[in-house]
Amino acid sequence: MIDFKPKHIVFLTGAGISAESGIKTFRDSNGLWENHDILEVASPSGFDRNPELVHRFYNLRRTQLLSDEVHPNEAHKALAKLQKEYSGKVTIITQNVDNLHEEAGSEDVIHMHGELIKMRCKESGKVLTKKGDIQPDDKCPCCLKVGNLRPNIVWFGEYPMHMDRIEKELNSCDLFISIGTSGQVYPAAMFVNLVKLNGTYTIEANIEETNVSDNFDDHLVGPATQVVSKLVEDILSIK
Ligand code: OAD
Repeated sequence: MIDFKPKHIVFLTGAGISAESGIKTFRDSNGLWENHDILEVASPSGFDRNPELVHRFYNLRRTQLLSDEVHPNEAHKALAKLQKEYSGKVTIITQNVDNLHEEAGSEDVIHMHGELIKMRCKESGKVLTKKGDIQPDDKCPCCLKVGNLRPNIVWFGEYPMHMDRIEKELNSCDLFISIGTSGQVYPAAMFVNLVKLNGTYTIEANIEETNVSDNFDDHLVGPATQVVSKLVEDILSIK
């Protein structure tokens, strides 16, 4: 386990951290990608072909996220507590498009795959907060044209967001902890390999073994709500 006091901890979170909040993961059985055609709902060409279908897909997910059914869980709360109470630096990079880290109290979360509660003008690239539905015939508040609004989500074939910042954070951390991600989507899946080049200690927390488990120094196996809460208490007790 951790036998040093980390100066800078980077967490990479994936859908597994939000599973116990009632949000479906992508690749588990009955996950989102089992029930939807990825290229129809999560690609620029799918959006060009059928904006109504794509907006409906993200409108439903946004409505669920903002409903009374979905709340941050103990794992999100534990990370927020660590950010507030730890003497070193704590960075959260998430692949999740939900806002549950922020709802739990975390600040400055890096959303590399975008955010459900934001939309973007296709023409200017300006990002705006949007808590209601987006319809294909909505007028964009930025350019005032109809049809120019898209979800601020990274689709297949698009480049993840904030990669310059992410590279800096990865290069400066001495502890890297991945939580609830299957390691099947790049570049996030190779962050563990990048940090290891600097001798950074790496931990994977997941309910089961993943394709990339062998790349990590240590493993915490179990539901995020349990293993992350315990991990955070362990880190806070390091002298
Ligand atoms: P996946 O659905 O690929 O993987 C979810 C992971 O969470 C799996 O490894 C599960 O074993 C694990 N898991 C499930 N429940 C858990 C729990 N309670 N506690 C801990 N772990 C649990 O989701 P991601 O790896 O996040 O991108 O997927 C990466 C990207 O693929 C997503 O951001 C999304 C998707 O295409 C975009 O939409 C751009």
